[in-house]
Amino acid sequence: MKNLMITGGAGFIGANFVHLMMAKYPDYNFIIYDKLTYAGNLDNLKDVMDLPNFVFVQGDICDADQVAETIEEHQIDTIVNFAAETHVDRSILDPDAFVRTSVNGTWVLLEAAKKYQLERYHQISTDEVYGDIPEPKSSVEGDALEPRSPYAASKASADLMVQAYHTTFGLPTTISRGSNNIGPYQYPEKVIPLFTTNAMDGKPLPVYGDGKQKREYQFVGDHCEAIDFVLHKGNIGEIYNIGTGVEVENMRMVEILIETLGVSKDLIQHVTDRAGHDRRYSLNISKIKSLGWKPRHDPEDAIRQTVEWYRDNEWWWRKVRNDEFDAYYERQYGERLKN
Ligand code: NAD
Ligand code: DAU
Repeated sequence: MKNLMITGGAGFIGANFVHLMMAKYPDYNFIIYDKLTYAGNLDNLKDVMDLPNFVFVQGDICDADQVAETIEEHQIDTIVNFAAETHVDRSILDPDAFVRTSVNGTWVLLEAAKKYQLERYHQISTDEVYGDIPEPKSSVEGDALEPRSPYAASKASADLMVQAYHTTFGLPTTISRGSNNIGPYQYPEKVIPLFTTNAMDGKPLPVYGDGKQKREYQFVGDHCEAIDFVLHKGNIGEIYNIGTGVEVENMRMVEILIETLGVSKDLIQHVTDRAGHDRRYSLNISKIKSLGWKPRHDPEDAIRQTVEWYRDNEWWWRKVRNDEFDAYYERQYGERLKN
């Protein structure tokens, strides 16, 4: 492993992964391949983009010619695929791009990985592929996939195609399925940056339904370290869950956020629930722990640190909460907040 193509590397987790890997492996080359959709942001990479082993290519993973050119030009031996449309609410409003990128785009990358006989293809997946998990069950890697949103279904489809390329063509693949990531550089459509930036401007915090849904909020740096473990120590053809093993109810997350910012609880506004909202995800993380990894952050501390990062980095999020963001916000929350 020497020349890594990180697709979707200008997004939230991808950029955090690039930071971690460039610090840890200064002798590797990092080719960041990203379409720069609304969620891609070169500000996320500004600390590393002048390093000599960093290359940025603006491109779509659905574009087979550009993917092939990039692999040839940079002698890529490993692809780590973060590229996806990632917001569940947008997949309910407009599913097209989700199918295009996660289904067609993943297939384009797999075909290229096969043609150029890459050392490794790693797919970044999500706990959402398992669907809504009733208490007290936790998902293990061999469980059936029961995705319930167009986003989750697009990711599950990608996982199945990756597995098929491993089984049919012997492609050296791995998959990791992460829980909810939080931390720096997350686009403020996701709940913690949305609520923090809303609260800082005295705007309401639109809690879906009763707010008793549970998520395994994990610090993005921990997730990125686990991906590195899978790349360097994981077994080919395997799937690894990556989470904390600790669930936090959304209302508890909101309480921590409000305490950290010192704002009023009156900002909370319960609004119409997300259609098909999964109440709970829960991952069994024994398999990734058996590689020697464990999460470094307590989930409640990770929420506090994340809120503090947005509080202290207005330069980053003010630019991103632009007219395009406002148009999305109005579409997603306009009616909800009136009712
Ligand atoms: P993000 O939305 O912040 O970033 C996605 C990136 O992919 C952006 O930079 C975007 O420009 C790029 N992209 C989108 N379509 C593309 C295309 N067709 N070609 C090339 N680039 C494209 O997403 P994120 O939260 O960083 O998630 C990254 C990956 O991790 C996704 O695959 C997501 O499903 C998965 N994941 C996310 C979480 C989470 O909590 N955020 C948890 C588990 C798994
Ligand atoms: O579980 C992993 C997944 O986590 C990733 O695969 C997705 O890419 C990522 O977006 C995230 O999905 P969620 O739907 O869980 O994240 P989101 O931040 O949108 O919502 C977290 C919880 O907060 C969820 O229960 C819905 C709730 N929520 C969200 C928003 C945006 C609200 O109550 N109000 C909101 O306005």
